[in-house]
Amino acid sequence: MRDSAKRQQRRASPVGRIAYVDGRYLRHDLGSVHIEDRGLQFADSIYEVFGVFGGRLFDENEHLDRLERSLGEIGLAMPMARRALQLVVREIARRNRLSDGLVYMQVTRGAARRDHAIPQEPPRPSLIITARPMDTETFEERRQSGIKVITTTDERWARCDIKSTALLPNVLAKTKARAAGAYEAWLVDRDGRVTEGSSTSAWIVDRDGKLVTRDLDNAILPGVTRRILMEVAQSAQMPIVERRFTVLEAQDAREAFITAATIGAIPVVEIDGRKIGEGRPGTIASRLHELYRRFAEAAANPGEIRDGALLQI
Ligand code: PDD
Repeated sequence: MRDSAKRQQRRASPVGRIAYVDGRYLRHDLGSVHIEDRGLQFADSIYEVFGVFGGRLFDENEHLDRLERSLGEIGLAMPMARRALQLVVREIARRNRLSDGLVYMQVTRGAARRDHAIPQEPPRPSLIITARPMDTETFEERRQSGIKVITTTDERWARCDIKSTALLPNVLAKTKARAAGAYEAWLVDRDGRVTEGSSTSAWIVDRDGKLVTRDLDNAILPGVTRRILMEVAQSAQMPIVERRFTVLEAQDAREAFITAATIGAIPVVEIDGRKIGEGRPGTIASRLHELYRRFAEAAANPGEIRDGALLQI
């Protein structure tokens, strides 16, 4: 096997990682689902991503609320009581000695003979939870230097408010960004307005100094970080408007940035090759990131930290 292939395999199944699959804690590389799982065959499944920073789970309740809502929209119930789910998330964080990283959770409708219609006798849903450390240094470097964004047509379905694993358009858009040397792709609707990033919420600081992010509807995911950031900005008396903006307005904005659970806020310094402001990370995005981190850290129940990971609720 070539060195790069070996490295890739190691990254995919690093020794010591533990996953939770349908009630069992397993070696990460041994976790699997049925070949006729509807999540695999139809993307008939919902997911969530939680950020863990300094051994603290950020915005946990908000992510669980969104999970419950997304599941409800496709007719699924929460896979277990919220408190039990919280315990499993903590146990996964602990077993993986997670200090800075993410917890990934996916609920699929379960395995059934392949038929588009949801079986009248529905299968038992599957619950998969994994954890992964994050290279925080790389993210800090990106925060210092800012990132580049490209724009591309939003080719997704009409219910992007549901956090489903049907992510092929997002995957293709992100890949297009990476091929162009950019970190993120901003998706643009039929009216020429930015909806969001392929895996992040999109923001600008407009010419009047107002924070602008698209209003919530079925065209975007209601980002948890977006919501918390709005709250902290409001408490800091920073003006916010939820409205649509064009690519041109974004390119002409004072600042631009992206938000997501795993990254907080990261400044955008270039959109489709055009510099934003001075082409350097803006002060508002950096300030907001700090405010968000402080707020989420204080709101997170610290629990008991052992082996660098959080243990109790
Ligand atoms: N992505 N928009 C989209 C399309 C996303 O996939 C995400 C999150 C966000 C930001 O949401 P939040 O602030 O709740 O993380 C916005 C996650 C991180 C992912 O798919 O890995």
